[in-house]
Amino acid sequence: MEPLGIALIGCGVVGGGVAKLLLEQQGHLAERAGRPLVLRHVVVRHPEKPRAVPLPRNLITTQIEPALGDPQVDVVVELIGGLEPARTIILNALRAGKDVVTANKAVLAHHGTEIFDTAREHHRTVAFEASVGGGIPIVGAIARGLAANHISSIKAILNGTSNFILTQMSEQGQDYPTALAEAQRRGFAEADPSMDVDGTDAAHKLAILARLAFGSEIPLEVIERRGIDVLHPADLAFASELGYVIKLIAEAWVHDEQLALHVEPTLVRKLHPLADVRGANNAIHVVGDAVGETMFYGPGAGQMPTASAVVSDLVDLAIGSAQLTFRTLRLWTNCRRLRFRSASSIKSRFYLRLNVIDRPGTLAQVASVLADHHISIASVVQHESLDDQEGISVPIVIRSHDAFLGELRKAVETLDRLPCVTAPCAYFPVADW
Ligand code: HSE
Repeated sequence: MEPLGIALIGCGVVGGGVAKLLLEQQGHLAERAGRPLVLRHVVVRHPEKPRAVPLPRNLITTQIEPALGDPQVDVVVELIGGLEPARTIILNALRAGKDVVTANKAVLAHHGTEIFDTAREHHRTVAFEASVGGGIPIVGAIARGLAANHISSIKAILNGTSNFILTQMSEQGQDYPTALAEAQRRGFAEADPSMDVDGTDAAHKLAILARLAFGSEIPLEVIERRGIDVLHPADLAFASELGYVIKLIAEAWVHDEQLALHVEPTLVRKLHPLADVRGANNAIHVVGDAVGETMFYGPGAGQMPTASAVVSDLVDLAIGSAQLTFRTLRLWTNCRRLRFRSASSIKSRFYLRLNVIDRPGTLAQVASVLADHHISIASVVQHESLDDQEGISVPIVIRSHDAFLGELRKAVETLDRLPCVTAPCAYFPVADW
């Protein structure tokens, strides 16, 4: 059988893992794919850089054009990440008649329509299993495995770095910078980790999953997002005391042909399976009308899990199944026009932490602001201070009954201006599921 010729663009953490699998598992992969998978070019910026996987010197190049012009290259694997030059490289590869495998969620979330339209125009395939959920085969599961279903909701932990940091902080008592440095050292984080911790990376991944699950164009700006960088260690402690853990939850659900999407730190009941997702693992809970509730779990970041997903796409391309799926399932075409629900019209229970001056009337003022915005209090926690003095600043934590996010935001604006409130209030949704 003709080998599948591969050009790897980028040989960082994930690229190194892909090269390792292609070079060290040749026999196994040829058996699975029914034909050899042959690495023909590795395009890198710094050819002299020492690499964990020794690459044959003749494969390494700094030039992309020879790889795109090589008739023995069938697939270009883009693993440089970011928007440019990744977008241009992908488009040029498709125009040059190559199929493309990418792990790049940012480029798909921003330029997916252009990339997929170009692929169709040139009768090529784009495979992107590694773009969401690291080693979890969630793209294939939604595109193929759940094809019989109308999917109604996705609730997911999609950023391994954030989940790792939250786990280290809550279980090991580590501070935020130490946990982030450890995530970077282990190769979970993006080159710019602010995308991990501010919710952007999870929003990119949610856009891809929602696009697949709901068949509708998802402009990134409709995904309201906040990351774990807004969390204070006190919130982790209070959440635990109340029987919850805080997770960075990415959620999309459709109701009455309206799609709601958001990413934010959320209080999840300790007994919910998503609460048990620790370290750099990801989990995706998907509800379909035929299948019911499903949950996919596994390593969401890191070298070999992500490489596993990239190479699975290469095997699918070698077999020819990726091309069939791409064509017949019309992946990434706009088959449905959903309206987007505004974040302010979303109803939820909320956790609200205020720092207030401990003196008569404070709680009454806070309750009055909440009442003005139709927010009903379900519980209040205030610990007696060891320093039993009137007038010191103390945290109080309020849990609300169901309230509109829009009303809660207005209430918080007013609360933040009260003289008895000494620091900006923190608020997060409390998951009812
Ligand atoms: N930085 C990403 C994460 C890795 O932490 O989940 C893979 O997308």
